[in-house]
Amino acid sequence: MDTLDFVKVTEAAALAASRWMGKGERNLADGAAVEKMRFVLNEMDISGRIVIGEGERDEAPMLYIGEQLGRGGMEVDIAVDPVEGTNLVANGLPNSIAVLAVTTKGGLLNAPDTYMDKLAVGPKAAQYVHLDASVKENLQLVANAIERPITDVTVVILDRPRHKELIEEVRSAGARIKLISDGDVDAAIATAIDSTGIHVSMGTGGAPEGVLAAAALKCLGGGFMGRLKFRNDDEVKRAKEMGFGAIDRILSMDDLVKTNEVTFVATGITDGDLCRGVRFSGNGARTHSIILNSHSGTTRFVETIHHLRAEPLRGRPR
Ligand code: FBP
Repeated sequence: MDTLDFVKVTEAAALAASRWMGKGERNLADGAAVEKMRFVLNEMDISGRIVIGEGERDEAPMLYIGEQLGRGGMEVDIAVDPVEGTNLVANGLPNSIAVLAVTTKGGLLNAPDTYMDKLAVGPKAAQYVHLDASVKENLQLVANAIERPITDVTVVILDRPRHKELIEEVRSAGARIKLISDGDVDAAIATAIDSTGIHVSMGTGGAPEGVLAAAALKCLGGGFMGRLKFRNDDEVKRAKEMGFGAIDRILSMDDLVKTNEVTFVATGITDGDLCRGVRFSGNGARTHSIILNSHSGTTRFVETIHHLRAEPLRGRPR
């Protein structure tokens, strides 16, 4: 199995979801991507197990946690988010991606579907920041690490009422803020890619998305820390059933991604900081993807032209 092949999975998902861009149908966009992702994974020579997917078996018909995929071969654990940023696709907004991470068996934390407090930074600051430090302290440490004044540090935060205090703290520390409506996986990865101009991603978002972001940052040498944050007692109960003892402990990169053999793939659905979105032209479509591999330490950008079958002519135009 060549891990580069996994790009076909996210390409197929992105192509399917992109048809729904701007149509206000987040669930239909997601459903189309899920179906294609599952189809392509099932064609691969792997014995794959979904560890992060669309939810538990009783709530998701496809790509549910524990689902086995592939025609047989190397045993791998797979984390997917067929559309990361469903609202972004539905509204035609930037930064939606189709995402997949794959590791050797047992390599990824099986994160419960709850929230997570997250802190993501690029390689230069990875060794210095800590989720337990204050916002101001962390931002100063990032500024020192990238050798810029704190006023040049750019922080991405999900635009949510729960982040009011965090936004005030970042502002009073003097850093710049980019508020996003959705898509904190893309934002976390962007901290480790120089050309994006993004240095930190912080705040609370989905826990499964946290594992995916950690997988990407492990490949890029960046830093990621998380702490599960529960919305209700049922979520606490579920986490305990899944084997989380100390549910409020800080999860390091190695807790989230337990192996050094990880491949992360994302394909742009709409244009974004990392990848361009799907473009249709002539009889084809063009996709743009990023492929990260922790073992080889490589970042590849792949542009693919898909020759889509033309509709058959239905008689001569009169
Ligand atoms: P979806 O793709 O499932 O819509 O998630 C998008 C997202 O913005 C994630 O990037 C983020 O982690 C999470 O939702 C935040 O959750 P909430 O919208 O509940 O604040």
